[in-house]
Amino acid sequence: MHVIGGTASTALAERVSRELGNAPFGIPFVKRFPDGELYLRVGGRLEGEDVVLVQSTRTDQDVLELLLLEDAIRQAGARRLFVVVPYFGYARQDRRFFPGEPVSSSAMARHVGLDADAVVTVDLHSPQTLESFHKPAFEATGVPAIARLLRELPVDILVSPDKGGVERVKRMAQILDKPWMALEKKRIDSEHVELQIPPDLPMALEGKHVVLVDDVISTGGTIVEGAKLLKKQRVGAILAACTHGLFLRDAFERIKAVTDELYSTDTLGNPAEKASVAPDIAQILVRDCAPI
Ligand code: R5P
Repeated sequence: MHVIGGTASTALAERVSRELGNAPFGIPFVKRFPDGELYLRVGGRLEGEDVVLVQSTRTDQDVLELLLLEDAIRQAGARRLFVVVPYFGYARQDRRFFPGEPVSSSAMARHVGLDADAVVTVDLHSPQTLESFHKPAFEATGVPAIARLLRELPVDILVSPDKGGVERVKRMAQILDKPWMALEKKRIDSEHVELQIPPDLPMALEGKHVVLVDDVISTGGTIVEGAKLLKKQRVGAILAACTHGLFLRDAFERIKAVTDELYSTDTLGNPAEKASVAPDIAQILVRDCAPI
């Protein structure tokens, strides 16, 4: 397999190539035409080869680059193209909330899947989006990567900031053999949330080392409110961990101010990127994509 890293995921793509036994790795030449349009070119001998393209789609430019790269790799004569989108943007608009809206997640998935033989992504907002790729699609999770990191640290209990994250926190609790709980979250608007301690606490939290585990940290509102609530319970230490660290505006600093440690995987480049999903992506490429 050849691995190509788009500009949004160069470092992770290189890690994936290492996990695939030092598969040939390359990055495209990318520049802008004077009118602002994107120009790119892929190098290497791709004719008749299986190619893995890794590109997160955090921004609209990332999406465009991904679509053009897929075409470039096809034009270069690749035998099969496995598209890895570690952070799949637009996933949160996964239904029509009001008349006239698109279902952005499925519109994006359809187009990303068009030139792919298979798609791999990580911790999708809703697993049903996998069906919208209209190609074999697989979802890795950041849970083992974060668990590998937490295994080295003193951890008493894992906490999901909301009920939606229960399966994730349960899975991590199982790997680490630790108890878990979920806070009760009410979203006020896209930037504000209210959190509450549930009535059925599995243990007294005073003095405990707790880890807040979420899939995405965006504005940071959820983790900041969760940490404040846990501090009121006089916990001993608060760690926060997520798969996708967007850290919009001053989210990183706000979270650092109320937690002891902050960890994210490398689906997106950010200052908390301390765990890699490369082994988990490589495993899916070998186990699920290669036999297609
Ligand atoms: C919600 O469904 C997600 O699991 C995250 O809790 C949410 O996206 C985090 O957003 P923010 O950092 O803006 O609170």
